[in-house]
Amino acid sequence: MRVTLELRDVRAAQADALVVNLFQGVTHPGGATGAVDEETGGAVRRAIDQGAIRGKLREVVVLRPERGWPRVVVVGLGPPGELDGARIRLVAQLGARAAEADGARSIALIAHGAGIGGVDPAVAAEATVLGTLRALYHFDRYRTEPPGNRVESVVLLEHDRSRQSVMEAAVARASAVAEAAGWVRDLVNTPSSEKYPERFVELVAPPLRAAGLEVEVLDARALEALGARGVLAVGGGSCHPPAMLVARHGGREPQTAPLALVGKGVTFDSGGISIKPATGMGEMKTDMAGGAAVAGAMLLLGRLSGAYPTWGIIPLAENLPDGSAYRPGDVVRLLSGKTAEIVSTDAEGRLLLADAVAWARRQGAGAVVTIATLTGAAEVALGKVRAGLMGSDAKLVARVRRAGERSAEPVWEMPTDEAYAELNRSDVADLKNSAGRHAGMITAGLFVGAHRGGLPWAHLDVAGTVFRDGAADGCDAGATGFGAELLYRLAAGE
Ligand code: BES
Ligand code: ZN
Ligand code: MN
Repeated sequence: MRVTLELRDVRAAQADALVVNLFQGVTHPGGATGAVDEETGGAVRRAIDQGAIRGKLREVVVLRPERGWPRVVVVGLGPPGELDGARIRLVAQLGARAAEADGARSIALIAHGAGIGGVDPAVAAEATVLGTLRALYHFDRYRTEPPGNRVESVVLLEHDRSRQSVMEAAVARASAVAEAAGWVRDLVNTPSSEKYPERFVELVAPPLRAAGLEVEVLDARALEALGARGVLAVGGGSCHPPAMLVARHGGREPQTAPLALVGKGVTFDSGGISIKPATGMGEMKTDMAGGAAVAGAMLLLGRLSGAYPTWGIIPLAENLPDGSAYRPGDVVRLLSGKTAEIVSTDAEGRLLLADAVAWARRQGAGAVVTIATLTGAAEVALGKVRAGLMGSDAKLVARVRRAGERSAEPVWEMPTDEAYAELNRSDVADLKNSAGRHAGMITAGLFVGAHRGGLPWAHLDVAGTVFRDGAADGCDAGATGFGAELLYRLAAGE
């Protein structure tokens, strides 16, 4: 969806719905909301007087003034001192969803918090547009009819002409990020029958090339020649051979060693011979969400010209049971040279990532960040709210955390004591691929980190955050796109 900036007063807005806001405790709204109130003969103040809205966070009312617009949507911002980018995104989501649910085809907005809120106008505009587009995303590809109304156009209003270029840049940037996030969500929502490794490459490589990146695909033969037996083992049970997609962004400062972003690309995870229970197995089509996030970040680096050299590495495999599948009890020699005892074929992600990390190091990466739907334990520990973060390098870990604050994708750091790494020791090989139930997110992450060979490394376990079971916060059920913007901001040095 295209978002346009219009230099005009809210009073002159032309749309099916106008979205404005209210801080908690305000009884006489000023700024854009005040202007709308005047224009509508006091519609907003009447709603406040009647107690229909008090400005509390997550509050939304749709007003139908007799004069002016068909609809005015007022969203609550909460207390003035607490407004930040994440909250602005949330209220924008709720406002856009309310307008759409009420039948609006076109919506006009103001940048929430940019006026009396005191938030930097560019930050406010970016967050408002990002939240709005996030809520208006729908995965309609497999529906004969969309199940509800769909907004078709969005206009951001700005009355101050001196802000034109700043606001235009903010809208352009937010549109690019939202489009990349939508692409990532499409990939994650796509059924596994249409995104097995070869098809994943067909879906992802052309847009990345068009964005100016150099894309290389290592097929199963190339992986064999390399000794990437982790990727090969995981993909062995599928008639669709594994692969590894590599996208390179040069950047303007080519003297720095590249940051490698490695994303898990298991296009379906049945568990393999250690097969998963039937209930909910369909959600394992999302097991490539880390890889999709890496693809989204690379797309943005190409389109928005990130300064630093960055590689996106996505090992791809479909984990299925078959006569040619790898088995519990097998020992696999990974690309790093270390061997792994297979305790469970369902602990497949770490094998694939271990190979990709070792390959990044061999290719000359300066640091590596892994992102994966790696463990159910991540979801148990942190729910669907935050992703698990860990790593070997405090500075890199802090950069990831900061990027997550900027992108409103919250993370939480896990401990990495040596005693946890000990749990990955095997009786027959260097490592085992499952250390049992205790600290499952940490042992899985540390298994991956064991192959970094001295490279600074950070890791995100996004198993809980990439997919929601039901609609929430103004967004549809399904893929969330988690991680793409975070990785982009990290690689862009923000
Ligand atoms: N892809 C799963 C993890 C997962 C679970 C992602 C739920 C999203 C939602 C991963 O490959 C897996 O199966 N992990 C096992 C590891 C265990 C066998 C050590 C798990 O978490 O149960
Ligand atoms: Zn998996
Ligand atoms: Mn698994």
